Amino acid sequence: MIRIPKWLADFGLRVNRLYYKQLLRSVYGGPKQSPSWFDHRIDLHYHWPHNLFWLERGVLPRKHMFEGCGVLDLFCGDGYYSRYFYSTIAGHIDAIDKDPNAIAHAKRWHSHPKIDYGVADAAERDFPRSRYDVIVWFEGLEHLNEAEHAAVVDRVRSAIGDEGVLVGSTPILAPEELGMGNWEHQYEFTHVAQLREFFSRDFSDIEIDVTVYPLLGGGARRSAYFTVRGPK
Ligand SMILES: C[S@@+](CC[C@H](N)C(=O)[O-])C[C@H]1O[C@@H](n2cnc3c(N)ncnc32)[C@H](O)[C@@H]1O
Repeated sequence: MIRIPKWLADFGLRVNRLYYKQLLRSVYGGPKQSPSWFDHRIDLHYHWPHNLFWLERGVLPRKHMFEGCGVLDLFCGDGYYSRYFYSTIAGHIDAIDKDPNAIAHAKRWHSHPKIDYGVADAAERDFPRSRYDVIVWFEGLEHLNEAEHAAVVDRVRSAIGDEGVLVGSTPILAPEELGMGNWEHQYEFTHVAQLREFFSRDFSDIEIDVTVYPLLGGGARRSAYFTVRGPK
């Protein structure tokens, strides 16, 4: 066996970090409009370990999953979570997003035999299956207007039924942060009470927890994690 010297391993790591730093700058910092979804390989290879909040979307919903369960990854973006966190327990995953580029990226980099990626506007189209044990909806509801919410929430209610669960997250913003983030945001939340009110129209069992992490550029990231059951 050829022993790899530590300096070579360290060098390889530095080149890898540099590659993802450049990817971040070119895709999310350039003059072109960036995608509304994030390439989480950048979190892993460049932001790690100074930015950790993105991992919660992978880890937290797993406690609601059981071996062989049926999962819908709503607004799946790059597909990272379905591939590396949910496919290791689910029996089948449908992962949908309305952006064809997100789905092309997910199929190219994060495909797996258990995952069916599909382009679909969840406010317009029925979900691929009629029932799921777990629906994950991370960083998605702030991307919709009220009419679109009503359409998606109706589909979620019928797809989880009395036994299933919806888990997801949305940022909680300070008033001065409203409208400053992702260009696709249409409905941002400033208080947990607002989010509770949002779900209480349609669901009887609502749990919300908030986590806080420092942001690399300064300030803090507050994410509200919701677990919702019991369609009314
Ligand atoms: C911030 S990304 C979140 C992606 C992923 N869930 C994550 O946590 O990394 C929001 C995603 O919602 C998708 N999206 C927005 N409106 C949608 C709709 N009506 N139907 C399906 N996907 C939608 C966008 O294309 C984008 O990929």
